[in-house]
Amino acid sequence: MLESGVSPPPENTLKNVLVVNYSQTGQLADITAQLIGPLRAAGHQVHLETLVPATPFPWPWPIVDFVDIFPECVQLDAPPLKPLGVAPNAQFDLVILTYQVWYLSPALPMTAFLKSPAGQHLIRNKPVITLVACRNMWLSAQRTMQQLIAEAGGQLRDHLAFTDQGHALATFITTPRWVLTGKRDSFLGLPPAGVAPQEIRAAKRFGRALADALDNDAERTAAPLLSGLRACTVDPRLAISEQAGLRAFRFWSKFIRCFGKRGQWQRRPILLLFAVYLLAMVLTIVPLSLLLQWLFSPLLKPRLDRLRAELELPSGSQEFNMKNYES
Ligand SMILES: Cc1cc2nc3c(=O)[nH]c(=O)nc-3n(C[C@H](O)[C@H](O)[C@H](O)COP(=O)(O)O)c2cc1C
Repeated sequence: MLESGVSPPPENTLKNVLVVNYSQTGQLADITAQLIGPLRAAGHQVHLETLVPATPFPWPWPIVDFVDIFPECVQLDAPPLKPLGVAPNAQFDLVILTYQVWYLSPALPMTAFLKSPAGQHLIRNKPVITLVACRNMWLSAQRTMQQLIAEAGGQLRDHLAFTDQGHALATFITTPRWVLTGKRDSFLGLPPAGVAPQEIRAAKRFGRALADALDNDAERTAAPLLSGLRACTVDPRLAISEQAGLRAFRFWSKFIRCFGKRGQWQRRPILLLFAVYLLAMVLTIVPLSLLLQWLFSPLLKPRLDRLRAELELPSGSQEFNMKNYES
């Protein structure tokens, strides 16, 4: 590992890595930079491909646009991207897909990439690592990512998850405030929105471990490359809420699209109804379901433990390798 003073690997073990990125505030770009810094320092070639939607998405989001994008996110109906900077037939040893979650689904630029012939070509038969940064509900989106990657012929090796620093209930206020106003600071005594700065800096451990794994050709095996580094930690109680939420989202998104396309005024009244429903869910059903799960947690524990272990695959939440790669 170069950073610890060890000499760089011989030229023929240096690898080509494609990193696909899109970030509105730069948060995901910052995490990605922590990951790729050690790869470049170790001499590996990293191509950073930043996705550019043909029509940019707004930041902060006007409330109407924020609600209007919901059906297309859930139905994976992504508007096109500008052509990629990388040739579709370029060869890479590893592909890293970094994305955020929009309405329990991958953000539309990543969906567009994974559904495009160029994107599918780039990940066919390649080992793939996914990295998500979002409020805290990424399980359904990751399931969709797994499907899209498998459909394109890629092989998922690792998954890294970064979530907002506040408690789940606090982020129901701080994340929408951030997305709708651009304000990220502490509010009503709640922690600032977004991933904690120390978590972002600590993402470097994954870059260091990955540089070592690539030096050892570990990407050619079927095993995860980043276990033992607390890659993703799942709260199985949120998984149950997400399952219920996604079922409702699938119904609403199809229903709203019966009234018109994105941007058409005909679907505004039904969007308003959906917004009221969403708010009511967040204020009533979500806290109630968390309370019920907490009350029944001794009974549910074995089931929740099984669910947690399954959902944390492939990289897991164990920490046995942390001391080798932490700063
Ligand atoms: C339209 C939209 C919908 C979102 N939906 C979710 C969601 O369902 N779950 C979640 O955890 N975060 C959600 N977020 C938060 C994002 O995942 C992300 O944390 C935030 O947009 C900042 O990402 P960026 O600056 O890297 O683009 C949503 C954000 C937007 C703009």
